[in-house]
Amino acid sequence: MEIMNKILLIGCGHMGSALLDAWLGLKLYSFDVVDPFNFKILNKKYLKNNVRIFNETPTQIEIKKYDIIIFAIKPQVANKVIAQYKNFEFKKNSVIASIIAGKKILFFKNNIKNAIQLVRVMPNMPALINQGISCLIGNKNFTKSNQKKINELFLKVGETIWFSEERQIDMATAISGSGPGYIFTLIDAFEKASQKIGFSKKISRVLVLSTFLGSAKLMQQTNKEPHYLANSIAVKGGTTEAGIKVLKKNNINKIMHNTFLSAFKKASKLGKEND
Ligand SMILES: NC(=O)c1ccc[n+]([C@@H]2O[C@H](COP(=O)([O-])OP(=O)(O)OC[C@H]3O[C@@H](n4cnc5c(N)ncnc54)[C@H](OP(=O)(O)O)[C@@H]3O)[C@@H](O)[C@H]2O)c1
Repeated sequence: MEIMNKILLIGCGHMGSALLDAWLGLKLYSFDVVDPFNFKILNKKYLKNNVRIFNETPTQIEIKKYDIIIFAIKPQVANKVIAQYKNFEFKKNSVIASIIAGKKILFFKNNIKNAIQLVRVMPNMPALINQGISCLIGNKNFTKSNQKKINELFLKVGETIWFSEERQIDMATAISGSGPGYIFTLIDAFEKASQKIGFSKKISRVLVLSTFLGSAKLMQQTNKEPHYLANSIAVKGGTTEAGIKVLKKNNINKIMHNTFLSAFKKASKLGKEND
């Protein structure tokens, strides 16, 4: 007999709703949401999908129905929200998942008395179009069958990669989790520079976006190293070489290293706050 999996999503903002939207068609899953501040909008949006929206923490009786409970709230409210789940008893074999940046498995263990199976996930924004990458790690009690379910869920929004050390989740937070933000900042810089050279906003958008997309796909399809591809365009004395020289003179590698380090430190710091 096929068993229905009941999921409770706590927090349904940018990432929570991206996940929920991708999961709604799944056959063996049903979804409820807790989001007190966006209760009305969410109710309207998901009514037709039979998703129940709670505007307050569910009761003990409700909580015991869920197979998977997912925290998708901001780190800044995590302590306050998770305290509301501190003394609940959960369904046997259920799993508590979190996509909250920085918050460690130990944080959930320490703050939710009866939490047994825990999994931390770091998705990223392209999950919105099912092109994301989610990094995951479970605690020692996390069962293979729950791992299969969680993997299946996050495969709906892109690729999944399982880690063996929790520190890698904070590292990935700084790279793939925050990465789309850096890429958009880079695209913005490309577009602004293109306009400074003399192109319109519209033409700049086409040129820049096509260049980013085409280059990423070329690298994916050829499976060649990025420096090899860069060198193959940058012929001696040519235009690309002239441009790359400026990037190197301004130490592009160091800029990226510092960018990742700064985000990694922040992820580690978020994890240490009140844990
Ligand atoms: N966005 C990303 O690209 C991304 C990527 C990877 C991981 N994450 C992680 O995902 C988490 C959520 O990020 P987000 O961008 O989706 O944030 P968000 O848009 O602010 O979503 C959080 C949602 O939780 C709601 N909320 C606040 N208090 C609540 C409570 N007591 N109970 C239930 N819901 C509550 C918020 O309502 P209000 O807005 O009204 O406060 C909001 O709808 C964060 O921890 C972040 O680190 C995000």
